[in-house]
Amino acid sequence: MKPKLEDVAKLAQVSKTTVSRVLNNRGYISDETKDKVYQAMTTLNYQPNSAARQLYNQKTNIVGLLFPTVSNPFFGELVLELERKLYDMGYIVIIGNSMNDCEKETHYINQLLSNQLDGLIVGTHNIGVEQYNNRNLPIVAIDRVVNEDIPDIRSDNFEGGVLATQHLIEKGAKYIIHTNGPIDVNTTANLRQSGYEHTMSQHGFKPITYTIDFELSFEEKAKKFKQIFEEHPEVDGIFASNDTDAIQIYNIALSYDKRVPEDLKIIGYDGTDLMRHMHPDLTTIIQPIDSIAQQAVNALEQRINNEETEQHTILPVELWQGTTS
Ligand code: RIB
Repeated sequence: MKPKLEDVAKLAQVSKTTVSRVLNNRGYISDETKDKVYQAMTTLNYQPNSAARQLYNQKTNIVGLLFPTVSNPFFGELVLELERKLYDMGYIVIIGNSMNDCEKETHYINQLLSNQLDGLIVGTHNIGVEQYNNRNLPIVAIDRVVNEDIPDIRSDNFEGGVLATQHLIEKGAKYIIHTNGPIDVNTTANLRQSGYEHTMSQHGFKPITYTIDFELSFEEKAKKFKQIFEEHPEVDGIFASNDTDAIQIYNIALSYDKRVPEDLKIIGYDGTDLMRHMHPDLTTIIQPIDSIAQQAVNALEQRINNEETEQHTILPVELWQGTTS
């Protein structure tokens, strides 16, 4: 049976009025009480789009954008496009950098639950955020499968992995290493690894993947990238799962006296505007950031209006030919 507002009140040990006030963000409620109510809603899978919430529901015209860090060019450009499109639709945005911060992510969802936001677009890497289990929330994910209730938008990561690996092989590489991560989070970027492994096996080559957690510092990443050259001096191709890693690998390769592309061919992933202008030499796979943003805002608008949404939207990728391969 569908849980009711009184069930939430009972479990949270507060009155129905308090639950309603939390849901509608009316009057002062302590953080402790709010937490108890949100926790009870999550446990019972209470649907905040119920009549009780809609009774007072007023639009805020504010949308939250939550991504690991806007200092990464992919997320920076994505946020730029999302903000532009949402602004044109009459929304203003608030931006959260959620890298390594589950609590912040929970806080944003609580803002949504208490009607201080109309919707959320997320591309975070944190796991164990229970608040997502509330159903029918106006949330859209980019590059991340949160659960079967939340629609996700992504580029064709598997095809991107195939394209990148195929390209390195065509250019003569045989000992190709892939870097990817994080693997414990269900990010759709992990499918790049499947595309890589599939293509390597098809050609009879051994796939080797180094897990490089996206959240590591540049110094920590440098140590891992050096390991690649120490442990596999015969490496002649690297497919990095994002462009910033690819550039870092390129610089480290030079310190190992590798000539690029003669001794080592490198391909990245993302192909942002910034990279294509600042490092046009880097061969990469271009993700269609503008279309990803457009599809995400369309899906969010549908969720806000309680309309049906596509569960998965997959957009095509293309190769950018630089001189690193
Ligand atoms: O550069 C950031 C990477 O993490 C991108 O490839 C994006 O798709 C995300 O998964």
